[in-house]
This record gives sequence, structure tokens and C-alpha cells, in this order.
Amino acid sequence: MRKKITVIGGGNVGATTAQRLAEHGLADVVLVDIIEGVPQGKALDLLEAAPIEGHDFKITGTNGYSETENSDLVIITAGIARKPGMSRDDLIKTNMKIVQDVTREVAKSSPQAILIVVSNPLDAMCHVAYRVSGFDRRRVIGMAGVLDSARFRSFLASELDVSVENIQALVLGGHGDTMVPLPRITTVAGIPITELIPAKRLEEIIDRTRQGGAEIVSLLKTGSAFYAPASAAAQMAEAIIKDRKMILPCSVLLEGEYGINGLFIGVPVKLGVNGVEEIIEIKLTPDEDQALKKSAAAVQGLVDFLNQEEV
Ligand code: APR
Repeated sequence: MRKKITVIGGGNVGATTAQRLAEHGLADVVLVDIIEGVPQGKALDLLEAAPIEGHDFKITGTNGYSETENSDLVIITAGIARKPGMSRDDLIKTNMKIVQDVTREVAKSSPQAILIVVSNPLDAMCHVAYRVSGFDRRRVIGMAGVLDSARFRSFLASELDVSVENIQALVLGGHGDTMVPLPRITTVAGIPITELIPAKRLEEIIDRTRQGGAEIVSLLKTGSAFYAPASAAAQMAEAIIKDRKMILPCSVLLEGEYGINGLFIGVPVKLGVNGVEEIIEIKLTPDEDQALKKSAAAVQGLVDFLNQEEV
């Protein structure tokens, strides 16, 4: 039987994700948004592209949840992007309420689903989805590391003028300024990156990676990145739907791994049909470990803020 994926939020990230899922041949897609007509219109437009793109997947738009029932996978992209004049706290509060509402509905309509969270601030929104859904930690997964690593890989490929496919890289930690790119295990066709790019230049590329989201916002001015985030969410979806056992950096709830307990943070995991099938613990150098702990402290600050709000 065909698999079914629901995408919540039919804005830039959600609609582009729906497009990638169908055009990558993964599943029937249901697109949900609160704005009347928008998910229906975008779904119909995508469906009308199917004869040209050459796929037979159904793409449906809706403002409710009955059409989403028993989805195998649900991708949450609902939320607002930060606007000028809006404080970080306002953004967190607004998106927390949205993610709470949609997760409640998802847990009722698709109790067996795996959740991929995309809404920001990412790691904190994973906590909200985890708590509200009551799902096992293997079934709540945040999209950040795949995107951050893709940004790092694309910058490195441009720098060296080599294929992006030659670059293997891993970015750990929270989805923000404190993320932890790991040059030590970044390679170009198996060659350590540290042998190909001088340390100072590599540091500049790492900084650009950390600011990758902000760079796009400063160019777009009216919104945030969506093509690469949608690609990242679709790759995670493929690993799960096709049970590919891919090792990808994702935000997951750590329970002692990496010396961190009770916090969602980006680490390498194996994704398959059961969701997070394994958390891969790599031995970090003291500097890397310190950077990961610093990143965890930043995420903890947001989670503490959310906990106060909920009381
Ligand atoms: N239920 C369903 N959809 C909702 C809800 C809700 N309760 N609240 C808001 N939405 C929808 C909006 O109507 C809008 O269509 O979420 C969509 C968000 O789309 P955009 O504003 O285009 O934002 P986008 O760029 O897609 O980003 C969405 O993903 O990457 C993150 O930081 C980004 O948190 C943001 C999210």
C-alpha cells in the first residue's frame, strides 16, 4: 500500500516539502494549513504538475485533520518566521502555541506516525511536540543538522570547485549560532578537509555556515530559507519511508548520550522505518565536547523559558 505523509503548514517550507516528497516518489501527501483555500490551491497546482513530472501520487490540501488520518509520517512546518520588531521571546511563544495545537491534532489523528519537526526555534519546538504527543522519543525528530551540514557541504564544494557529492560533513548541536561543525571528520572523497583548506579559511567557512539562515533572511528580507530546508526534510522522510537506515544529523532527545540528559539536540542518528533506530555516539575531542555542551546550554535556556510559559 502507498505510504501517506502529512505536511502541516502550507507556507514556503511546507509547500516546497510537499512538492519534493511527491516528486521524489515517496508517498501520497496531505497539506494542512489554517488559511482557507491555500493548501487546497497549492495541492491542486502540485497535482497538475504530476503528469509532467511523471508521478501518480495524490496531493490533497485541507484545513482539517480528517484527511490526514493514519499518516505514516507527519512533517510540522507550521509557524511564523521572525518579523522586524518581533522579539525572540514573542517568536517562541507564538510558535510554541502553534506547534502545541497541531501536535495535539496529529497525535489524535495519526497515533502511530513519526513526527519530523521543522518549525523554529527547532530544538525547543521538538520538546513541545514530544511532550504534547506523548510519543516515544524514537518518533519525534527535528530537522536541523541535515540542513546545516548541507550548507557547510555546499560552501566547501564551491571553495574547492569539486562536486558536492564528494563532501561528507557533520554539523552537531542546536540549530543556531552555537551549532558545532566538525572539520575533524569532514572529508572530500575521503581526504580530510584540513589537508585541503588552510585553517583560517576553514574557520571563515564554518562561520558562514553558522550564519547560514541569517544570510538568507538578510537577502530575502520578507521570510526565511525554504528550498534547502524542504530538501533536508524530504531526505529525512525518504530515509524513514524507504527504511534506508541513513545516518543523518538530527535533533533527538538525548537520555545520557554525549553526557546530555533530557534535551533535544543535533547528533548523528540512524533513520529507518521505526524513526530513530540508533543514536551514534562518536568520541569528541575536549574542544568539540565543550562546544556541544555550550550549544546544549543555549537550547536548555529556551526550554526553561518554555517551561515557565506553560505553568
Ligand atoms: N495550523 C496549520 N498551519 C498553520 C498554523 C496552524 N495552527 N499556524 C500557522 N500556520 C501556517 C501559516 O498559515 C503559513 O501558511 O504555517 C505557514 C507558515 O508558512 P510561512 O509563513 O511561509 O513560513 P515558512 O517559511 O514556511 O516557515 C515555517 O519553518 O523553517 C521554519 O523558521 C521557519 O518556523 C518557521 C517554519
